[in-house]
Amino acid sequence: MTILFNDQLTERNDVTIDIEDRGYQFGDGIYEVIRVYNGKAFYLEEHIKRLVRSANELRIALPYHEDRLTSLLEELVTRNQLIEGNIYLQVSRGVAPRSHPFPEHSKAVIIGYTFDAPRPLSLLEKGVATILTEDIRWLRCDIKSLNLLGAVLAKQEAVEASCQEAILHRNGTVTEGSSTNVAIIKEGILYTHPANNLILHGITRNVILELARELGIPVREEAPTKEELFVADEVFITSTTMEIAPVISIDGKTIGSGTPGPLTRQLQEAFEAKIP
Ligand code: PDD
Repeated sequence: MTILFNDQLTERNDVTIDIEDRGYQFGDGIYEVIRVYNGKAFYLEEHIKRLVRSANELRIALPYHEDRLTSLLEELVTRNQLIEGNIYLQVSRGVAPRSHPFPEHSKAVIIGYTFDAPRPLSLLEKGVATILTEDIRWLRCDIKSLNLLGAVLAKQEAVEASCQEAILHRNGTVTEGSSTNVAIIKEGILYTHPANNLILHGITRNVILELARELGIPVREEAPTKEELFVADEVFITSTTMEIAPVISIDGKTIGSGTPGPLTRQLQEAFEAKIP
């Protein structure tokens, strides 16, 4: 398998990661997950832009221009003959003796690889079961950082409850899912947490908000409360890998009729039309 290592496409077995890589020791780095449909990286430009923003926020200097990164990732997909799957891309601050402050001399370490993954068609059709749990993450969830312990613990709680996702709330306000954005529909209006420091500014979220506007569904970027979540007519989650998945239950309580709602279905159809 070919992978991206810094500015080279090389064989996976030829790459080693240093024990003093700050991504490994401090979670000091950033990442992106990019969907590939029919051999094409979906919304690649938006993912690269978000990576650049995360890097700037953390003052990680990317060692080469984003245009070069874009063409290397496209070449990676071609070489691995990936048709249906994902690209995982990670940038760490680099390698240096372990000490918290930024090292004076270090160069970002970039890795990128692809893997096959089918679309989650059954979940898209039937919907997902979820739990609601406390959002214990830091206050810069807009940065797609490698520090994912809050998300890992929440997702594990969901899995142990035989659910697919954990919806998070901070002091009773619904923020997002452990690896998805969350929206509700109430009386024909779509509500979702505003794109501020408390959520990841999801690329799928953005696409869905645009589609909603095109379909004439009013959008309010206002966060629902826990109580509003349970009495919503429809709830759905969005992400690169989950696309737009209906939520049919939360903590064992049925949402709406317990089946995917009509506006969620309309948005799913509109999203489907965007897939190459
Ligand atoms: N997760 N919120 C969080 C906390 C996420 O980790 C993600 C993405 C999203 C959705 O963002 P996007 O639509 O840009 O994928 C929202 C990726 C897929 C992951 O960590 O696997």
